[in-house]
Amino acid sequence: MVDRNGWGRDHPVLTGSPRSPPSSFVEQANVSEPGIYEEFETEWPDCWERAAELLSWDEEYDTVLEDGNAPFYEWFASGRLNASYNCLDRHLEAGRKNHAAIRWEGKQGERRTYTYRDLYVEVNEFAAALRDLGVEEDDVVTIYLPMIPELPIAMLACARIGAPHSVVFAGLSADALVARMDAADSEYLLTCDGYYRRGDAFNQKSKVDNAQLKLEQDVQTVVVDRLGEDLPHVLGDEEYDYHDLREEFSGETVEPVSRDAEDMLFLMYTSGTTGEPKGVVHSTGGYLAHVAWTSYAVLDVKPEDTYWCAADIGWITGHSYIVYGPLALGTTTMMYEGTPDYPDRDRLWEIVDRNAVDVFYTAPTAIRAFMKWGEEFPAEHDLSSLRLLGSVGEPISPRPWNWYYEHIGNEECPVVDTWWQTETGAVTISTLPAIDDMKPGAAGPGLPGIDVRVVDGAGESVDPGDTGYLTITRPWPGIARTLYDGDDRFRAEYWERFSDPAADEWHYFSGDAARIDEDGYVTVLGRVDDVINVSGRRLSTMEIESAITDVAGVAEAAVVGRSSETNGTDVYAYVSTEGGYDDETAVREAIVDNIEAAIGPIARPEAVVFTPELPKTRSGKIMRRLLEDVANGEELGDTSALRNPEIVGEIQAEIDDE
Ligand code: PRX
Repeated sequence: MVDRNGWGRDHPVLTGSPRSPPSSFVEQANVSEPGIYEEFETEWPDCWERAAELLSWDEEYDTVLEDGNAPFYEWFASGRLNASYNCLDRHLEAGRKNHAAIRWEGKQGERRTYTYRDLYVEVNEFAAALRDLGVEEDDVVTIYLPMIPELPIAMLACARIGAPHSVVFAGLSADALVARMDAADSEYLLTCDGYYRRGDAFNQKSKVDNAQLKLEQDVQTVVVDRLGEDLPHVLGDEEYDYHDLREEFSGETVEPVSRDAEDMLFLMYTSGTTGEPKGVVHSTGGYLAHVAWTSYAVLDVKPEDTYWCAADIGWITGHSYIVYGPLALGTTTMMYEGTPDYPDRDRLWEIVDRNAVDVFYTAPTAIRAFMKWGEEFPAEHDLSSLRLLGSVGEPISPRPWNWYYEHIGNEECPVVDTWWQTETGAVTISTLPAIDDMKPGAAGPGLPGIDVRVVDGAGESVDPGDTGYLTITRPWPGIARTLYDGDDRFRAEYWERFSDPAADEWHYFSGDAARIDEDGYVTVLGRVDDVINVSGRRLSTMEIESAITDVAGVAEAAVVGRSSETNGTDVYAYVSTEGGYDDETAVREAIVDNIEAAIGPIARPEAVVFTPELPKTRSGKIMRRLLEDVANGEELGDTSALRNPEIVGEIQAEIDDE
């Protein structure tokens, strides 16, 4: 059975009273027939043709699902298509060339609108430039850019020529960039000179210069000049200016390369249970069909909408729901470079108001911050254009859910709490906003065709209300195809725990704990592995621990998550030092610096607690779960299995002193 300490911390204990979809919403919804669940059940897997039909195919597929080599599934086998064609050309052909594709709001108050025609022109020019640099089909291009339009443009340019992109979040460190480029054998990099942080120029290029020194392969680098005079930079050998390249290839067009449905569209690195990030591989056909379908069915996106997913394209949410999903459907997708509280705490509402945003999608960590700041900020603006609200990335408990529903949605917009992961590619659990009642604190049932099960350690379904492991039986189109690091790791990470290969029974294990109620609604409780979710970002405790133990003087470290009102979870580090290292302040500073260098500021610990020893079992295993309880001020269970039980009291005293 499952150990009571095995669950994540930020779990909503209760679900709030159910709410029905507002009738004004139901009348206009893309998907409103309740029979869709039944239809997907009886027609599975052919039901997924409904998703594939949202795309334009160069060649029709033969079969919807090939599962002969499970868990390496193939969707829409032998079909051919191009993602950039689907996001651009076909909208031009449909007479929508002057429709806004991207509306961008920069940190300094700048605004740019790209029509589908503008986007098409720039994507083609950059695709031509990439080809000229030598990028061939299947070469991995790394993109290390903040939220500027060149980021989605480059992604689509890669997709156009069949070169998978690997976007690395701009806030990650030089070392993290090196690790990802090395792992993907990537020889092409797109970055920028820098970007603004609260009005100051921040130098991104110097991070890249550091990375270049550590990379073994020759790399050709393209640099976007974001800061102009605010941060002059010089280009070295094999470095090219983005705008010069565009000028050189001005007006050029590149035929979209017809890709097999199973060809890789992109790679996305994410944290796993070991220190090594996992390179999650996504396909072209299944992925694009699934993101387009969920944008349509869950987010209710329509071509005439102004749609805003306030995430960063450096993570999967932005890939699926700022770039590929909305652009495949031909809508106007907003892109915001800044933070929600700069220059003021009403920034997002001012943008919603000015752009008359129809659909807004954000993370609970942001919603908790809005709630803390107060309802007066949204109240200053007209938010009546909003039709639907979404939440993603972490559990959302009933209080922020209700606040979002009332103060942003004016009780007129359904809220979809969408559960999914880098590996699932697109939303897998959510209510359908015109069909299902919403239960604040529960994400909802599996989407039509997605068979979600909450199981005990033996793989048996738990009773409604009981806690278990969140698994998915039967594949879905957006599922990751493998890990770039190898098929064995893919099997080991997701499939070994609950599958029975001898019986050809495959159950995907998400790494999350959950409860399921009698209506099939899932409440996600958090991770059960060594991954923590800080402000909706996945971090590996092992990766942080290894950055800490690299610091001179550190003997041992254990990192756990501590629940936090604002961030969901904070990073909490316990450290023991080697004899002779008494200057805790200096070691603490070195630890923070090293974590920032190895991963980035997002992994900065909230607290570094020094202890003479870490609590260990008699076999010498660090008791991380116990440390998690200590950090969270929870009552401790039986500590008799410890070799050094007295240490727990010392650690508690140390924390109380902080
Ligand atoms: O723990 C779950 C949490 O985020 C993890 C996936 O993180 P990542 O791959 O970075 O993707 C985030 C955006 C899709 C999950 O294992 N998570 C995501 N959405 C929810 C969630 N937890 C609870 N409720 C959600 N709606």
